[in-house]
Parts: sequence; structure tokens; C-alpha cells
Amino acid sequence: MKVAIAADHGGFKLKEEIKALLASLNIEFQDFGCECEQSVDYPDYAVPVAEKVAAGEFDRGILVCGTGIGMSIAANKIPGVRCALVHDTFSARATREHNDSNVLAMGERVIGPGLALDIVKIWLETEFQGGRHERRVEKVKEIEAKNLGVR
Ligand code: RB5
Repeated sequence: MKVAIAADHGGFKLKEEIKALLASLNIEFQDFGCECEQSVDYPDYAVPVAEKVAAGEFDRGILVCGTGIGMSIAANKIPGVRCALVHDTFSARATREHNDSNVLAMGERVIGPGLALDIVKIWLETEFQGGRHERRVEKVKEIEAKNLGVR
């Protein structure tokens, strides 16, 4: 599995902790910035990760900002991306099983690193269940195709 990861200044520290986790799990990843806690704009970091995942160059994306909200809003503008904003382990598992989310967004100012790393691990390990959920994800793709002209 190949993971693309990025953060703005509000998520920089958690991004570094997630990178250490990915390395310890022997999961291949690429860091798309930012490089420090100097103020930057979250869309500039969400879009490259979202585009790489949508293009199939990376299997999953992980985005961190202060709340995770800006990152998730921006990432979900890219056709093919299903970005889930997650701050609990139940949702981490459910969004993989039910939504086949391919990008995870979290807020460094919302949760502590212990919970965040558990969420990342569960989200990476959990498989999409398909079945009735496949039909629903297909309907989401139809909405996307109708409104963004892409499928
Ligand atoms: C930056 O201050 C903050 O707005 C950003 O990290 C994020 O929370 C936006 O949604």
C-alpha cells in the first residue's frame, strides 16, 4: 500500500507522528508538506494528495489540519476522492467498511496523538465490505458524475 500524506501548519506535528507510525508499520508513504509550523493554506496541501489518490498513484491519502474540516472540504472537490473526517475509532472502521473512503482527514487541535494514531491504523487495515454499500457508493459516484462531469 502507498500512502500520500500532507498537513497545513495546524496539523504539522500530528503529520510527523503519523509518518513515524507508517514507517514503523513498513507502509510506503510520500510527504506532500508542509515542512514546518509556519502558516500556510490548507487547499494547497489537500489538492495534491487528493489528485494523486484519484489518479491511482497512491492507494490512500491522509490529511491533517487544525480541525480536519478544511482539508476534507477541499479533498472532496476532487472527483474520485471520498474523504472522511474522522475523530473516533468507530467511524474510522465504519467509513472504510461502508464508504470505501480513500482519504482520511483529522484535526490535530481536536484529538490527541494516541487516538489519532489508533484511527490511522484501523482506517488503513479495514477493508471495504461491498455488497449493499457498493450500491450506495455507486450512487455517490453518479452524483459526482452528474455535477462534476467526470466518472
Ligand atoms: C488554520 O488556522 C486552520 O484554519 C486550519 O488548520 C484548519 O483547521 C481549517 O479547516
